[in-house]
Amino acid sequence: MAEDVKFKVSIDGIPVEVAPGTTILNAARQIGGDIVPPAMCYYSKLEGSGGKCRTCLVKVSKGSEKDPRPMPKLVASCRTTVMDGMEVLNITSPEVVEARKGVVEMLLINHPLDCPVCDQAGECKLQDLGYEHGSEGTRYEFDRRTFERIDIGDKIQLHMNRCILCYRCVFTADQITNNRVHGILNRGDHAEISTYIAKAVDNDFSGNVIDVCPVGALTDKTFRFKNRVWFTKPVDAHRDCPTCSGKVTLWNRGTEVLRVTARKDEFGEVEEFICNTCRFDKKHTDDWILEEPTPVDKDSVIGANHYPEFNPPPVIKPDLELQEANEEQLARTEKLK
Ligand code: SF4
Ligand code: FES
Repeated sequence: MAEDVKFKVSIDGIPVEVAPGTTILNAARQIGGDIVPPAMCYYSKLEGSGGKCRTCLVKVSKGSEKDPRPMPKLVASCRTTVMDGMEVLNITSPEVVEARKGVVEMLLINHPLDCPVCDQAGECKLQDLGYEHGSEGTRYEFDRRTFERIDIGDKIQLHMNRCILCYRCVFTADQITNNRVHGILNRGDHAEISTYIAKAVDNDFSGNVIDVCPVGALTDKTFRFKNRVWFTKPVDAHRDCPTCSGKVTLWNRGTEVLRVTARKDEFGEVEEFICNTCRFDKKHTDDWILEEPTPVDKDSVIGANHYPEFNPPPVIKPDLELQEANEEQLARTEKLK
């Protein structure tokens, strides 16, 4: 049957079989681990997303079984579908690693380096990307692009200077509303997400633009400057909500619920969008049925100082010779008694 057809692909030498029409990025996600290209704009839950940021570039070293010629340029893995017999290089290609460094440099041209005061620090995809692929210094000598502050209500903070124009919030607004209420105005250096977001913020699900934003351009006003994310403890919880699934992550400090977000999967994407009542209005532990601590990536700063269990290795290693000598000494002492 046609739906049983699978294409054999290899990514960084690891084989995987996927359905025709699968993108290289999603094929890599089926393998998982380090070979998954980073994605700043693609979001599997948002139809039409991807193709904007170029962080997911990979090298196709063999096009397919039928036409083994390599692709002449690096391709965006979120937008390129696999072919049978395709061979792809990601972290094993120096060319890709170098290109990704350039993409990070480009994204950081206008992004302010205000991580010390940004609420997204610790869970910012650009921060992670900069850490993994960025250069130490900048070659950019001009003024950074800046915008006037726009007030979009009492729940969501828009900080346009930090926006990397990934369009995720645009697609989210499109998905949660029936009319077009949100988009990118102007182009090039003047491009900015439109003030029409003010219309989308009335929607019950508007808070989800905070969760999909990969940087600190859209943040939760009810959590703003309250704490650093690595001092909080994420816990999965749920409630009986008439509007959404009610499955969330609570970010607690002690017994205080500082922030509520949707649960995210291993690729940092929201599992299910949550409503604004759950996100902004349910800030007491009593509002929730607690489940278990949210799994945190071992390399994430959020997990810092949170030990699930503490099993220190024995500091003193047993010294067999010394033990024997002690036993002999004990025996001699016993005899003398
Ligand atoms: S505000 Fe955030 S989600 Fe929206 S386009 Fe900018 S970076 Fe992307
Ligand atoms: S994730 Fe592919 S271009 Fe942004």
